[in-house]
Amino acid sequence: MDKYLVVGNPIAQSKSPVIHGLFAQETQQNMMYSKELIAVDDFKGAIENFISSGVKGINVTAPFKEQAFELCDELSEFAAKAGAVNTLIFKDGAIYGDNTDGVGLVNDLINHNVELSGKSIVLLGAGGASKGVVSAMLAEQPAKLTIANRSVEKAQSIAELYPDQVSACRLEELADIQADIVINATSAGLNGQSLNIPSNIFHEQTICYDMTYGKALTPFLTFAKNSGSKQLIDGLGMLVEQAAQSFYIWRGVKPSTDGVISQLREQMS
Ligand code: ATR
Repeated sequence: MDKYLVVGNPIAQSKSPVIHGLFAQETQQNMMYSKELIAVDDFKGAIENFISSGVKGINVTAPFKEQAFELCDELSEFAAKAGAVNTLIFKDGAIYGDNTDGVGLVNDLINHNVELSGKSIVLLGAGGASKGVVSAMLAEQPAKLTIANRSVEKAQSIAELYPDQVSACRLEELADIQADIVINATSAGLNGQSLNIPSNIFHEQTICYDMTYGKALTPFLTFAKNSGSKQLIDGLGMLVEQAAQSFYIWRGVKPSTDGVISQLREQMS
């Protein structure tokens, strides 16, 4: 039976084994998928051990996505631009890395009938979560992509990777920007902190997407709702869609995601 796993530190919270288990069942793949905690100072050693034990592929989560990038012999275009890898494939003695977060985001937006093509998009945050999705978003040809961050220089350094396609600004400058879609990729809500953004960026038709999710409406989506937005989407679907893309890369079969998303949603409530 082919073996796959997800590594991170911490890892107990990971829903990936449940998601991949459901995908494998649905597509009748003879595989197993587990989660493994690895030491923060021995990523390379741990991965080498997994490779020698015959593991076929690994999902990588925080805080190892940059180290996974460094370890790869070959990278997909999205992973190369992101500087981060969440999917490792071992084949013919080489390590190939991809980043499926952006495809996960785009596909979840499509599930909600939201297309990025021709739209003005604001991406909040300039950390790993933000960097990981920019290339896939640009591939959809939005009219405009602005990265807004508390520390503007971090947003600028991502924008510099995509000359003429991405601009950067401070969070306060959002007051002057008209956006069709606002995506939260900051960790403010996760850390219980508030995100200091002008409420006039939100209108009834503004689509608000939060890469995080929870049992209750996230702090970002609550703020957007209180500021007048009616279209609120959390990141649970993105989690399942990025997993589906990894599964497809490994197994060559596209699992369906809607049932898995509803099942996870039910388990959370
Ligand atoms: P991740 O890998 O989840 O992206 P990260 O690399 O630590 O985590 O990045 C966190 C992002 O959330 C950063 O853009 C950070 O802004 P700064 O670069 O200015 O630190 C943003 N962030 C976290 N807490 C925030 C807060 N309270 N207000 C605004 N931005 C916040």
